[in-house]
Amino acid sequence: MSDIKQIEDIFLKLIASTKNIDDLESIRIKALGKKGEVTKLMKTISLMEEEERRTKAPLLNALKDKIIQNIEKKKLSINTDILNEKISTEWLDISRPSRSWQKGKIHPISQVTEEIVEIFSDLGFSIAEGPQIESDWYNFDALNIPPEHPARQEFDTFYIEKLKNKIGEPNVLRTHTSPVQIRHMEKNNGVPCRIIVPGKVFRSDYDQTHTPMFNQLEGLAIDKDINMGHLKWTLEEFCRVFFDIDDVVLRFRSSHFPFTEPSAEVDIKCSWDDGLLKLGQGESWLEILGSGMVHPNVLMACNVDPLVYQGFAFGMGIDRLAMLKYGIPDLRSFLIVIFVG
Ligand code: DAH
Repeated sequence: MSDIKQIEDIFLKLIASTKNIDDLESIRIKALGKKGEVTKLMKTISLMEEEERRTKAPLLNALKDKIIQNIEKKKLSINTDILNEKISTEWLDISRPSRSWQKGKIHPISQVTEEIVEIFSDLGFSIAEGPQIESDWYNFDALNIPPEHPARQEFDTFYIEKLKNKIGEPNVLRTHTSPVQIRHMEKNNGVPCRIIVPGKVFRSDYDQTHTPMFNQLEGLAIDKDINMGHLKWTLEEFCRVFFDIDDVVLRFRSSHFPFTEPSAEVDIKCSWDDGLLKLGQGESWLEILGSGMVHPNVLMACNVDPLVYQGFAFGMGIDRLAMLKYGIPDLRSFLIVIFVG
């Protein structure tokens, strides 16, 4: 019995004096592990005489329970001390501003494209798309630009090698979004229609106002009763909303495009006071887009009867409109890539 009491005293003292969880664990193993002191004593129970067992077994069980309870209590107290120590020494200033980080922003071209698309959507136009690598047929011939036509040279076209040398095989990087007019009208339900075609186009040209890749937006409306008045109203309405000028003044200047007849280039009224461009007022004009009534040859190339259907088309440079609206002086800045380290 004195044995049990002695062991109890030793372990309770040890437990009381420990300051950390690791030491506490070693004490637990020493007492209750496979070869621990208390375990050894517990094993003797089965070897005891009946009478001895009756008195000693409850004492040994009580010893074991006491040590377990003391260890658990001590564990709790050590953990509470650790937590209190942390709370008193570590702290977070939750009023500090967070670290700054580099955020991506929508590219001005994407933003302007979205703005334009939204305006034309409100006017009942839907979006059409076409491939960036085109055939001569869609990029030129079907748009009333036959091989000998001087306009072919004006386009600074990037040609790519024909693999099979077949007519209709894609062999040019499209120089404008106009080929999508043809692709759309060719489809059975291609007319009547009101579509816009935003997209990348390519020309071999590079300076402050030209980049080899730029963005255009084509417009096409075909129906049985369409005239220049509809074209004029549509473009005025677009400019009024896009440039946010209520009394926008446009000038339709007679021009020539092979795919429209008559054709008009559209200028917006502006001023250049102190070198600062102001749209919507003043004595100057700034060209913003090309337009016209779709040429009968273009309709016929798509099997659309020009005696039944007419339509208007227009094409604008998205980059140019973005430069005008947001005062961006150099087209090439749209292509600068910023690497964030
Ligand atoms: N495709 C012409 C160009 O890239 C722009 C254009 C002008 C498109 C008049 C049209 C149009 O649809 O009617 O220069």
